[in-house]
Amino acid sequence: MSVRRLRSFRVLLVVLVFANTSRALVDEVLDVLKLGKEVGEEVLNSWDVFGKPFNATGGVDLPVVRRREREIMARLAVVSRSIEKLEISVQKVGDIALFLAKKGNKPTRLELRLHEMSDLLNRVAWSNRQMREYVGQQENLERSTLQDFAEWCVSHDPGALPGLLERVHALVVPPHKNLLGRGLLQLIMDDLTEEDSDVCDLQMSPHQLIYDMYNTIALTEIKGYAMMQFSWMLLRIYGRGNFTQEASLTRQRYSERTGQTATAARAALAMSKRDLYRCDPPVHTSATYAEVTRLLQGYVENEVDMNGDATCKENCAFYTLTENHGCYMEQFCYKQDKCRGRIIDCQYLDSDMWVCPASRHSQRRYEWIEYENGRTLGRVGSCRLGATKVDSWWRWTLTHCSYCFCLCEDEASVAERFFSLREVLADINENKVVTGMRLVKLGKVFHIQIYQGKLVERGFVESSEEVLAQAFDPEQAGVLEGVDYHTLTYERRAIDLDELDSPSGHVLTGARFRMIGAHLHFEIRATPFNYTTGKLHPEKSQWISNDNTEGSHTPRTRLELYKPDLPTRSHAALRIDSQHDQYIEFTHSDFDADAAQSTVPFIDVQPVVPSKALNTKGATLLSGAGLYHRGARGSGGFIGVKVITYDYSKHVKAEPPPSEFVDESETTEFVPIVN
Ligand SMILES: *[C@@H]1O[C@H](CO)[C@@H](O)[C@H](O)[C@H]1NC(C)=O
Ligand SMILES: *[C@@H]1O[C@H](CO)[C@@H](O)[C@H](O)[C@H]1NC(C)=O
Ligand SMILES: *[C@@H]1O[C@H](CO)[C@@H](O)[C@H](O)[C@H]1NC(C)=O
Repeated sequence: MSVRRLRSFRVLLVVLVFANTSRALVDEVLDVLKLGKEVGEEVLNSWDVFGKPFNATGGVDLPVVRRREREIMARLAVVSRSIEKLEISVQKVGDIALFLAKKGNKPTRLELRLHEMSDLLNRVAWSNRQMREYVGQQENLERSTLQDFAEWCVSHDPGALPGLLERVHALVVPPHKNLLGRGLLQLIMDDLTEEDSDVCDLQMSPHQLIYDMYNTIALTEIKGYAMMQFSWMLLRIYGRGNFTQEASLTRQRYSERTGQTATAARAALAMSKRDLYRCDPPVHTSATYAEVTRLLQGYVENEVDMNGDATCKENCAFYTLTENHGCYMEQFCYKQDKCRGRIIDCQYLDSDMWVCPASRHSQRRYEWIEYENGRTLGRVGSCRLGATKVDSWWRWTLTHCSYCFCLCEDEASVAERFFSLREVLADINENKVVTGMRLVKLGKVFHIQIYQGKLVERGFVESSEEVLAQAFDPEQAGVLEGVDYHTLTYERRAIDLDELDSPSGHVLTGARFRMIGAHLHFEIRATPFNYTTGKLHPEKSQWISNDNTEGSHTPRTRLELYKPDLPTRSHAALRIDSQHDQYIEFTHSDFDADAAQSTVPFIDVQPVVPSKALNTKGATLLSGAGLYHRGARGSGGFIGVKVITYDYSKHVKAEPPPSEFVDESETTEFVPIVN
């Protein structure tokens, strides 16, 4: 297993251990904070059972105990049902652990802790299921069975429920910082920031992952709390003691633990990255990338055809901006597609050469060129259509009619270098938000395309759908340059690379390209919303952009490409090498590597939609998006979109359960049975 595979595997483990629960949360549109409150109140009400004046006629007999027991069990059933809604299925974890062990990996500290955590969560989940079963069959069970179980739930034995919960907690918040080091959430955060390959494989931001984990742990705490409280109640019914004090200690400890866990989660969430993007696919196909074509393409032309008088008085370098004026004597010009646009920046490389033409269907003109002096452009090899010998010549006036190597900015009708400037918005009137984004090429035009989903309560988004971009033809009547689309040209081929996030309390609801000066510029739309209700406030939407330019006081910086070959030929993994507040210019691929036949960077068209569990619905809330460049030295790289997932850190909090046990009528009404 390669290091990368190993790492991905480890994180996959993380996901399997934790992911299922929070998926369920999405389904039920419930969150642990809400559940925690519900359970806390239910526990309190249940203790009230002991407080209510009991409608007893005379002494306390067995039926009364039975009645109390039944009432407590009925309440426990209510709590169980709400927990069950969010139940984890962690059965797979054991298999995964076994698989890992078989692989014989040298386990890291993180892996060991993850295994321990999954084991502990498993055990709590198992006993919770056990309890649910008992609640269901209460009538048929011996009281001693219930009593045994209740005793286990509050036992001092390290293997009993309170011990398990303490160990879960110790993994998240190590009791002795210096001794045991960092908590599990921190370890995961460290691991995920080390290298980005995991994020690529998972398609979850580290923030999302940690948030999911926190939810799982918090849910486990709630389960444990409910089980312990009801156990104290049962034990009291069975006359094992008063336990008011014990129940109160249980509650205190629960508040402490959940408070500390929430603090640890908030800290990890606040520091974890929220961005998500795509990395290199295993194979590059038309489904993963698209190209801008014929922006500045390497082009062989003889001087004689680049001036109106068919002279050869100048040299190649003289022709910095010209166009084709004909085809003198039907030489090489006759065999190739002439440049219908502008011819730019010519230079003389050598007099004579072999040129291998590209196929008619290709957007290239040449596969390769080999000069007589030995210089080669592109990857010289066999030539399917047959290489053509191209020789410069002398005129009787002793002027040299040289073949020059120029750049052709072809006519827009044969090129594909348009970007749509139309806004792309989620259906905010239906309370929908952007849940994913991609760039697509439709016809000759690049578009931003979004995915959208309905935002509901507490940051949850119902299932998302792709919103297909509307294709249009730039040459159609009524479709306007500068309004509907932008054409990349020699002078206007820069694209701004920015990472944009919404202000706090806003979510992502749209995106667009706009022109700022000569730069194609990416912008996002942010809309404020109410976290509790999920309601958007469309009228308060705003466009967000980084309007900095290269001419400002602290100028936007340019990302340079070094001898860019086609990114699809790269052997090394391409990593994000751009930063916020940069720009890059579309240009031709390298002369030597590719005969300048392509336009780089390529455009990554893979969808960027944060992943959700395999078999649950729901989508991820986003707050931002951006454009980045993924590349390496010697590669043209790709321009892609990234998204920024919503920051949940400010919504993570633990509320201590309500505390006043109403206990006034204890002595008069309830007399424990003496066995
Ligand atoms: C007590 O129970 C009796 C019979 O079950 C019922 O008639 C009476 O209304 C109850 N009293 C109270 C205060 O609930
Ligand atoms: C969100 O909505 C709830 C319920 O309507 C309301 O009580 C609360 O004040 C709202 N919050 C904000 C920040 O508007
Ligand atoms: C239980 O203990 C609490 C506090 O320790 C006390 O107020 C209450 O009277 C006790 N009840 C019984 C039935 O002993």
